[in-house]
Amino acid sequence: MPEPLLALVGVHKSFGGVRAVRDLSFHVGEGEVVGLIGPNGSGKSTTVHLVAGALTPSAGDIRVDGRSVRALPVSARVPLGLARTFQTTSLFPEYTVEEQVLLGCHTRFRCTPAASVLQTRSSRRDDSEQRDRAFRILEFVGLADLASVPAAAISSARQRLLMVAMALASEPRVLLLDEPAAGMVASERKALARVITGIRERGVGVLVIEHHMGLILEVCQRIVVLNFGEKLAEGTPAEIRNDPRVIDAYLGGGRPC
Ligand SMILES: Nc1ncnc2c1ncn2[C@@H]1O[C@H](COP(=O)(O)OP(=O)(O)OP(=O)(O)O)[C@@H](O)[C@H]1O
Ligand SMILES: [Mg+2]
Repeated sequence: MPEPLLALVGVHKSFGGVRAVRDLSFHVGEGEVVGLIGPNGSGKSTTVHLVAGALTPSAGDIRVDGRSVRALPVSARVPLGLARTFQTTSLFPEYTVEEQVLLGCHTRFRCTPAASVLQTRSSRRDDSEQRDRAFRILEFVGLADLASVPAAAISSARQRLLMVAMALASEPRVLLLDEPAAGMVASERKALARVITGIRERGVGVLVIEHHMGLILEVCQRIVVLNFGEKLAEGTPAEIRNDPRVIDAYLGGGRPC
């Protein structure tokens, strides 16, 4: 059987006495959206930090195509196809929407920064290719009309889509989205759902953390439920919605909407 695109194998992460993630195993396949849900503090963002390389597991392994990335820094994981967005918006507010995406493109930029500064012919050609690519990504997420607007001037929902666009600019094979719908109204969530589905249709594996159950149930093929850092359940949206353990620990509490 081929190795899954992304696999977590018995992953643990402790912060001093806090066991944030315990013995967590699951996988994300190509063209699959996997939801990661659970109460506040259940270890969801920690899991994304571990996969992206911002944190190192205390034990266990993280694999891309069967190859361990456990010891690799973030910079070495991006070329393998891992990209992520953050729970809190992290943009350069003075940059335009297009410039933000170009920053994402530069993680795969072929020119050295020195060549870019000196504006060699090949760096000028690369610049125009990157700008075309940035524009296509902005069209894909529905922000092309705002390309020349400073990122600080667009709504927070659009800033969240912009973070997705920046992550897409590195041409990921696995995209990690930490609460992409935070603060969005229904019509904005619908647009985000279309974007996530479009990403999946391009063969990208997506791991999405979200408290909004409507979005999770709509876009995910599989859902992993965390509770106190441990996997409480895993299954299809229908299985998870009807699982009494999940209802007790999470869905029954009135927190998700
Ligand atoms: N850098 C850190 N140092 C110490 N403890 C941490 C650190 N990061 C997370 N934790 C703790 O680990 C646990 C899991 O936190 P995490 O942020 O992964 O939860 P979460 O499921 O993303 O929650 P939320 O839904 O509120 O975003 C919490 O108890 C948190 O306080
Ligand atoms: Mg979190």
